[in-house]
Amino acid sequence: MADTIENLLHEARRFPPSAEFAANAVATAELYERAGEDRLGFWADQARELLHWHTPFAHTLDWSNPPFAKWFADGELNVAFNCLDRHVLAGLGDRVAIHFEGEPGDSRAITYAELLVEVKKAANLLTALGVGAGDRVAIYLPMIPEAVVAMLACARIGAVHSVVFGGFSSDSLRSRIDDAAAKLVITADGGFRRGKVSPLKPAVDEALQDGAHTVEHVLVVRRGGNDVAWTTGRDLWWHDELAQVSDEHEAKPFPAENPLFILYTSGSTGKPKGILHTTGGYLTQAAYTHRNVFDLKPETDVYWCTADIGWITGHSYVVYGPLANGATQVLYEGTPDYPALGRWWDVVAKYGVTILYTAPTAVRSFMKQGRHIPEDRDLSSLRLLGSVGEPINPEAWIWYREVIGADTAPVVDTWWQTETGGIMISALPGVTTLKPGSAQVALPGIEVDIVAEDGASVGADEGGLLVITEPWPAMARGIWGDPDRFVSTYWEQFATQGWYFAGDGARRDKDNEIWLLGRVDDVMNVSGHRLSTAEIESALVSHPLTAEAAVVGAADETTGQAHVAFVIIKDSQVDAAAAEDAAEILRQHVAKQIGAIARPRQVFIVAELPKTRSGKIMRRLLRDVAEGREIGDTTTLADTQVMSIIASTMK
Ligand code: WTA
Repeated sequence: MADTIENLLHEARRFPPSAEFAANAVATAELYERAGEDRLGFWADQARELLHWHTPFAHTLDWSNPPFAKWFADGELNVAFNCLDRHVLAGLGDRVAIHFEGEPGDSRAITYAELLVEVKKAANLLTALGVGAGDRVAIYLPMIPEAVVAMLACARIGAVHSVVFGGFSSDSLRSRIDDAAAKLVITADGGFRRGKVSPLKPAVDEALQDGAHTVEHVLVVRRGGNDVAWTTGRDLWWHDELAQVSDEHEAKPFPAENPLFILYTSGSTGKPKGILHTTGGYLTQAAYTHRNVFDLKPETDVYWCTADIGWITGHSYVVYGPLANGATQVLYEGTPDYPALGRWWDVVAKYGVTILYTAPTAVRSFMKQGRHIPEDRDLSSLRLLGSVGEPINPEAWIWYREVIGADTAPVVDTWWQTETGGIMISALPGVTTLKPGSAQVALPGIEVDIVAEDGASVGADEGGLLVITEPWPAMARGIWGDPDRFVSTYWEQFATQGWYFAGDGARRDKDNEIWLLGRVDDVMNVSGHRLSTAEIESALVSHPLTAEAAVVGAADETTGQAHVAFVIIKDSQVDAAAAEDAAEILRQHVAKQIGAIARPRQVFIVAELPKTRSGKIMRRLLRDVAEGREIGDTTTLADTQVMSIIASTMK
């Protein structure tokens, strides 16, 4: 993203940790030393210190079959035991695990002891429904405590969850159910969104209507209170079933490489990939990063990560990291602006939130609304701020620190991906001198580089491709059902060196610190949601109106990037009014096919698309149009007139 580099020149302020913050910090510079001396020994120490192992491991890393890593493979643990039982056994059962804030204003404080009872019952229920170790469970729920309970219940019995974001359509849900051959779906009647009940169950019913699927039961949580259609024999009410099972359940250990979850994410081509994560290494890195990056003091902190559990951030930093660390956290169901702007800040004030982790797109929309809104609330409890999902531009970084963080709270910009499982690049708040706009350095234990296409490290003030050069504990163990695609997507580009290619461009500055520059492939980041242009193109092409479609990501002030589509309508000769209709029909069609988050900002109906002589669509030129720039070099086009025709259509 060009503006990131530009901003780099405009913001020269640096923010070292205050003496007080540094003196009390959880993470010290010593971590870099320990990891630097003996990386594997360092991770083994973290795994032993942060987790409870039923069977201790002797082997840290097995990298004999790259890129398929095995971490702590001869050890055994239970993820749910680590997140719940051991805290209760240590006398912390009365600590609040979750302060739930529903959108209508209902709230519930759930202690670790209470959460454990719920998870034990849910584990018994899943077992009674025939779900066993290794079976897949699809979870399609709003941001309610039952989502956490459902995930931990799966983990407890060794089942594999596949959480599907509640904003995805029935088609998206169905393809994920099919890909993983899920046995059970856990959903809700509906959840609250902007003052209304947004139903979820109909999408499940639609997804399962043709009967040719693997789902045996649908468990339905009552949340919205809305009427739902019912398939007798298949559908069961969560609360009815839980009332009938025992609240005793012993957490049995599983090998560290037992699968924990599948989470689907967009790649540059084809259908979404089911990224597979396992237990021991994943939980080690989730707990380690959550503790050190967020300076967590579990006795006193109130932590709030605003991500939905449907994304990786919700997995690692709402569920697994915080609970493994015995943290107290806020879980909020709704949107930031309902019933009024400032709702988030009311939540911060109500619970005395000390650590806030959110996305730059949220920060930018708060900037637009004006600083008087947060300034009207008491945000004095906040002491640390985190950012994730896309590059945070220096202006937003400074605003976040000044307005939300009272000009004192460190802002940690954390770079990572669904595939990395946990944070990889970030400042350590008590150690690093913060530099607005830069994600700065790899965490202790993580090795990254910025390289040219040939693999040579770039010099200071140069840009290149971000690679991860050594295996890490939370790394993806593969793509569900498609090991070859895992290799070809991430490991082929730098196969000789054996490096992981992240798909991000990055720049190294004079201090050897890292600036992320956005994706170098056709993956887009819209409001921190990852989607590929290819996915949206195929949704567009599936509509009878469409002859051909090309989608590009255009810079957007609030959402970071936005999708802009160029579509050729089959029966050409579309007059202007009809073109507008077609555009709207197609926008809705994409929302229906994939989910509202994928709806293009704009659909332009065009007569031609710019193509090279070999027939490749020149997206670069379309991006110029979408971003209102002067159109670049068109000499390689088969028909050099095309761009002026498109540009005139725009006007
Ligand atoms: C982008 C989200 C810049 C990046 C955790 C990556 C970021 C993709 C940052 C992964 C950041 C994430 N600065 N870019 N701090 N964090 N990204 O899988 O392009 O939803 O490849 O994981 O988001 O998105 P995903």
